[in-house]
Amino acid sequence: MTKPHVLLLGEIVHAKAEWEALSEVATLSVCDSSTKEEFIRDLAGKYSDVMAVYHCHMKDAKPGAIINKELIDALPPSLKFICHNGAGYDMVDVNACAKKGIIVSNTPGTVSDATADVGMFLILGALREFYPAMTSLRKGKWNMGAPISRDPEGKVLGILGMGGIGSAIKRRAEGFDMITQYHNPEPLSDELAAGAKYVSFDELLATSDVISLNLPLNAQTRHIINKDAFAKMKDGVVIVNTARGAIIDEQALVDALESRKVRCAGLDVFEAEPQIHPGLVANEKVILLPHVGTRTYETQKKMEIQVINNVRSAVTEAKLLNVVPEHISLVH
Ligand SMILES: NC(=O)c1ccc[n+]([C@@H]2O[C@H](COP(=O)([O-])OP(=O)(O)OC[C@H]3O[C@@H](n4cnc5c(N)ncnc54)[C@H](O)[C@@H]3O)[C@@H](O)[C@H]2O)c1
Repeated sequence: MTKPHVLLLGEIVHAKAEWEALSEVATLSVCDSSTKEEFIRDLAGKYSDVMAVYHCHMKDAKPGAIINKELIDALPPSLKFICHNGAGYDMVDVNACAKKGIIVSNTPGTVSDATADVGMFLILGALREFYPAMTSLRKGKWNMGAPISRDPEGKVLGILGMGGIGSAIKRRAEGFDMITQYHNPEPLSDELAAGAKYVSFDELLATSDVISLNLPLNAQTRHIINKDAFAKMKDGVVIVNTARGAIIDEQALVDALESRKVRCAGLDVFEAEPQIHPGLVANEKVILLPHVGTRTYETQKKMEIQVINNVRSAVTEAKLLNVVPEHISLVH
């Protein structure tokens, strides 16, 4: 009997043995189409019987990096599952996938600790204004250029989107004696909230000393932090974003930093990565990282294995283990 065909879009870096082991249950192909046009032709040719795709976060120009409606229309009818490597899956149009009967999985959970470590680093780095202190030292001025900064203790941390990463940031922040509150579309159970106060979106903006963005990017959340949202915040608020750049209107953030409405910011993600608004690069009140939330060996290996486990489940049981929230109603 022929084995189901699985296509890798991108590269396996750490879990090569686990990927190879999938060949017990599937025929494995690695996409070698070099342009988008060639890829679309290959989808009607050598990939026309693919049943499941392992999809990696890649540079936008790579064929298959962005799974948009145009590409989804070109996918073969045999394709039923897309297993994405990443907790954020905004590069996959899940609504268009659903219309074509394709179910998508992501990697919740495995990303939480590493990304929360980066979030906590940015909260502390922004509050304590470590970046100007570091540059002062390197300019030979010792701590003469280091501002008098702020302590985390007793500050209210507002978590917008308290899922896996938001909850892990909450736990870390409480170790620094911060007071935690959150806003989600629905309140969490008492067990999951674990003492964090549930507040409305506007209340979170108005009463938080530090705002951590940990919600997914989609049509509803794009630019949710805009000029109007900044106007509702406390003067001198600190903004930390480890979610997706386009959650914030970057120009509005630059303006809010210039007016000192926002005292400091810590950012791991940007609207037009890898380009960064020059107003952020120039501002020493902003601590910047180049999207390194999950960039550790342990976490990346765990993520790859989680995707491989989803592919295995697709092939052997015709179901995914980590179905994205938008598709859960389709599989029950
Ligand atoms: N910087 C990085 O390297 C990195 C790494 C992993 C994930 N991420 C980003 O972090 C995001 C969160 O990841 P996660 O694993 O915690 O996801 P998650 O699904 O566990 O949590 C997201 C939370 O946001 C909430 N939410 C959804 N819409 C909301 C809204 N409009 N307002 C408030 N809350 C809302 C959900 O209810 C959920 O609780 C991902 O979508 C991804 O884009 C970034």
